[in-house]
Amino acid sequence: MVVQGADGGGANDGSPIVIVSNRGPVTFSRTESGTRTHSRGAGGLVTALNAVSRRQKEAVWIASATSDEDASVAEESRDEPYEVEDLRVSLVEHDEDAYDLMYNNLANPLLWFVQHGLYGLPYAPALGDDTRRAWEKGYLPVNENFAAAVERVLEGSPRGRGEAEPIILVHDYQLYMIPHFLRERLGEEPFISLFVHIPWPDPEGWRVLPRYIREGILRSLLQADVVAFHTQRYARNFVRTANEVLGAEADEERGVVRYDGREVWARAYPISIDPGEFEGLAASDAVREQESSVRNLPGKLLLRIDRTDLSKNVLRGFQAYGRMLERHPAMKGEVTFFAGLQPSRGDIPEYAAYAEAIQKAVDEVNEVHCTPSWQPIVLSMEDNFPRSVAAYKAYDVLLVNAVRDGMNLVAKEAAVVNEENGVLVLSENAGAHEELGEFAITINPFDLDEGADAIYAALTMPEEEKKRRAEALNRQVRENTIEEWVEAQLRDIDAYRERRG
Ligand code: G6P
Repeated sequence: MVVQGADGGGANDGSPIVIVSNRGPVTFSRTESGTRTHSRGAGGLVTALNAVSRRQKEAVWIASATSDEDASVAEESRDEPYEVEDLRVSLVEHDEDAYDLMYNNLANPLLWFVQHGLYGLPYAPALGDDTRRAWEKGYLPVNENFAAAVERVLEGSPRGRGEAEPIILVHDYQLYMIPHFLRERLGEEPFISLFVHIPWPDPEGWRVLPRYIREGILRSLLQADVVAFHTQRYARNFVRTANEVLGAEADEERGVVRYDGREVWARAYPISIDPGEFEGLAASDAVREQESSVRNLPGKLLLRIDRTDLSKNVLRGFQAYGRMLERHPAMKGEVTFFAGLQPSRGDIPEYAAYAEAIQKAVDEVNEVHCTPSWQPIVLSMEDNFPRSVAAYKAYDVLLVNAVRDGMNLVAKEAAVVNEENGVLVLSENAGAHEELGEFAITINPFDLDEGADAIYAALTMPEEEKKRRAEALNRQVRENTIEEWVEAQLRDIDAYRERRG
């Protein structure tokens, strides 16, 4: 294990570390009395990057300013990172229109949809001038703005002035063009990795995007030193895509791409969680207060916790449940499906329509199957993290039936705090399936009959079998912790830099 600071060598030889992600670790606001306050982000990516930040205490985390108070912090942290809790952050303010185009017109509808395979291709997408505008006036300027912020942070960092090569860790699909802009500004010296947290489809999947986008993205990614994913499958797809789209020399076995005189490594590091953090949350008052609301629902608890995202396959989840009730009417009143769905990306028309479709699907199942004393589905479309964790503790069956998912951390978070030997029903297309599939009931997320059978099998599974699987799931998550996720990347950074000499 590489040791921090002067004691150790390798990636911790004093290199300044900069983390870059669109969504930041904290959001600032003002209280009524006018004092600045902040709330800490809870999403999976944020938890993971917190672990990097903790590991390398001097790391600076650059993220977009998303509130008015964030903008003030951005102003104040232009030259010096802003210290909050145990983090050093630097927020970047973007031009509002550019950010809107990047977030609502390019990254989330287009890239997200292509990478998760969400388009019904006979009808969508319909690309044109608007796409080009979103790319040129949104995606590129926002990415360039981030690159400028990285340069500023490095200039301000005492160790950044030439003593050790900086390490720049860029995260996710909103920021694919940063390696390109960083090389323009900083040359070959810094180590750059880009971690893709969502699926990477096969080369054919990328042919939906206009050539200037898919080639632009790939050329930029091949200016990084490591391109990282959650699964081997995504890493292999990336190597093949570089080969087929750009004609890059590709070694699929070793995960190496050569292009334009550079060597780029494609690597898989399955992201994880901090089990201790979730144990702490599970024992907290905020979570305990929520427990009765989920534990008092009639019968066994079937649970899903997700953002209201089309990739999560919420509608088919309800349909499969409805089908299970049709086939096994004796289950009426014996189970309640609690769906905690956090609102997400509501300014994008497809997401707004999806939220409506979810409500409709719930109403349909409830109408058909309800009894005077029982409601089959309880839907909560709000952001209530303590209640989600309370539900993690209490579920009998957890449904994760994503169309596709980079990893899906809900499956991991829930496994470590569940108290009921709960059974996981897991989509074969979630990245988590590579690690957890063996202990779950696997489903094809499109097959409603298979979904219905899986839910029934999980609800009626003998106690001993449930226990065996739940223990194995718990063990599996604890064996690959978030620390290991960070260490594996730092080891590869050392190996890469040693090779380059
Ligand atoms: C996924 C993405 C993240 C993103 C998160 C929440 O996990 O991989 O990059 O931050 O969803 O989405 P949002 O659009 O709210 O940031």
